[in-house]
Amino acid sequence: MVLYRKYRPQKISELDNAEIRERLTRVFSSSFIPHALLFAGPKGTGKTSAARIIAKVLNCEKRNSGSDLKRAKGLTLADIEPCNVCETCKAITEGRHLDIIEIDAASNRGIEEIRDLREKIKFAPVSAIYKVYIIDEVHMLTNEAFNALLKTLEEPPAHAVFILATTEPEKLPETIVSRCIRFNFKKASPSEILGCLERVVKGEKVNVTPDVLQLIAQTSDGSFRDATKILEQAILENALTSEKLNILLGRQNLSVINFLKLLASCDTGKVLFEIVKMGENGINFRFLTEELLYLLHAILLAQHGIGKEKISADLVTLLTKDEISRLIKLFSKVYVDLKTTSIPQLPLEVAVVEWCERKQ
Ligand SMILES: Nc1ncnc2c1ncn2[C@@H]1O[C@H](COP(=O)(O)OP(=O)(O)O)[C@@H](O)[C@H]1O
Ligand SMILES: [Mg+2]
Ligand SMILES: [Zn+2]
Repeated sequence: MVLYRKYRPQKISELDNAEIRERLTRVFSSSFIPHALLFAGPKGTGKTSAARIIAKVLNCEKRNSGSDLKRAKGLTLADIEPCNVCETCKAITEGRHLDIIEIDAASNRGIEEIRDLREKIKFAPVSAIYKVYIIDEVHMLTNEAFNALLKTLEEPPAHAVFILATTEPEKLPETIVSRCIRFNFKKASPSEILGCLERVVKGEKVNVTPDVLQLIAQTSDGSFRDATKILEQAILENALTSEKLNILLGRQNLSVINFLKLLASCDTGKVLFEIVKMGENGINFRFLTEELLYLLHAILLAQHGIGKEKISADLVTLLTKDEISRLIKLFSKVYVDLKTTSIPQLPLEVAVVEWCERKQ
């Protein structure tokens, strides 16, 4: 099984995004069960995982029944966590519970499904306490489907809970948003990603050095899914040191510090020659630019007295504040241009020429 599925969080405490974990705990340990939730945020941040966990929180057999839950006060996280071993929990995890209905609005814009939903929602759940409707990429619904959904959200039966997930909440009609309790899933912080990777490392019993995990956390752009996928690839290809992983990620022999020093020398010919050489070595120019921007950012901060200890003193004084700002502007543009260029090294070369010529 692919690792990101195998290590999908199965209970609230396994959700590595601290803010979401705490809010879900607060909401679902209160005596009031919300009937419509909106999970908004970038992909790979745990919306689907959290939605399935909530379906289990509401229906787990081992816990109090839903009606008891409503009456209960002062519940703790341990009280509300699903057991993951009862038949209901297992069926939900395996995606075969008849009362947990997942609708993908992206696939056919949900016309049939929402019509079906409206017809069947009034019927009591087959075996669960709550029917849970998880509607993924809900912003893709047609207007007709939105209107039908809205009618249902206005008067949901007591046994129904809606979880609407979307990567583009701004496309949702205000009428829908205003009926939901909203949860903003943010890009995961590096430390949250590390938490997620450590669960995988432990489970797979592999030996990985901490700098490899750091590197993955840095590369995965706040997505738990991407981070887990990179780790999986690293395990498969036995790239469990940072040198090997850098090669895997197309970052071999990359020394941004040397590149920056070369830039500071303003020798156009030399810098261009270096870029050609890197191209031949298969360097990924997007990563190079990214690393360079990270470094420039750190220098910028250090020049203003922030995080000085992270950067060697000669780098802080290598270029003036103005020059650092200029490089940041130039290479931010390179980063954007790299997405559309047909010659990968061209944006970099243009920036280098502009930089060297102006400085002379
Ligand atoms: N909160 C989390 N903590 C740890 N890992 C997570 C978390 N959320 C997601 N993951 C990992 O990322 C994968 C994708 O998550 P998913 O819930 O499908 O994200 P989304 O629906 O937001 O795209 C999961 O299978 C799991 O491996
Ligand atoms: Mg999803
Ligand atoms: Zn259970």
